[in-house]
Amino acid sequence: MSQHELALDTGQGNGAVSEGRRSRSRLGLVVTGVVGGSLVALYAVAAPFVAPALRRVCLPFVPATTAQVENVLRVLRPRTGTLVDIGSGDGRIVIAAAKCGFQASGLELNPWLVWYSRYRAWREGVHRSTSFHISDLWKASFAQYSNVVIFGVPQMMDQLEVKLANELPSSAKVVACRFPFPTWVPESSEGEGIDTVWVYDAKTFHSDLHRNRAKHC
Ligand SMILES: C[S@@+](CC[C@H](N)C(=O)[O-])C[C@H]1O[C@@H](n2cnc3c(N)ncnc32)[C@H](O)[C@@H]1O
Repeated sequence: MSQHELALDTGQGNGAVSEGRRSRSRLGLVVTGVVGGSLVALYAVAAPFVAPALRRVCLPFVPATTAQVENVLRVLRPRTGTLVDIGSGDGRIVIAAAKCGFQASGLELNPWLVWYSRYRAWREGVHRSTSFHISDLWKASFAQYSNVVIFGVPQMMDQLEVKLANELPSSAKVVACRFPFPTWVPESSEGEGIDTVWVYDAKTFHSDLHRNRAKHC
């Protein structure tokens, strides 16, 4: 009888075969766990970036250019107080405004961008004069802000115009980046092409709102 036949006869062969099967199935479990875990992690990171495309108004993450940020700061130079960037992305406008003395806040739907903004603000030493909130712009109130910045898309500007006109105090200024508001008349603009920003005075759009309401009565 050969050694192999002897091993089979004594049951040692069966043990080796089943040990081999066990280690293969363990490897299979580990591979499935790693692949599954990676897919879940990828989904968790990517979903908040893709989600805006599935909303009624698609407002994707497109960061402001350096010239755009400079134009925002230039038109707001004489002002102070509270500022909010609606859809604050990676926090660049909020952080730049805080460095110019504003108490600056960012409102952003994407939690990854909010966490990254908080980290950036801390790294750049402006965490005390900044705050970032995970929030839907359509559910937030802007009544507490005296300076509002929006880099939106044309499809949302008419609806946002109505919301801001109803909520903002008369002392507020609104800065629109790249896309102007459809009916408000800007008091000035700065920059060219995609870096253009328009400034609106709440006193002006409030009085236009009241005039229009009176017309419809
Ligand atoms: C065009 S980016 C502007 C980013 C930033 N303000 C800047 O200028 O660099 C618009 C941002 O709005 C965010 N956003 C989209 N829908 C939103 C919503 N409903 N509420 C709050 N933020 C939203 C997007 O995730 C994106 O970061």
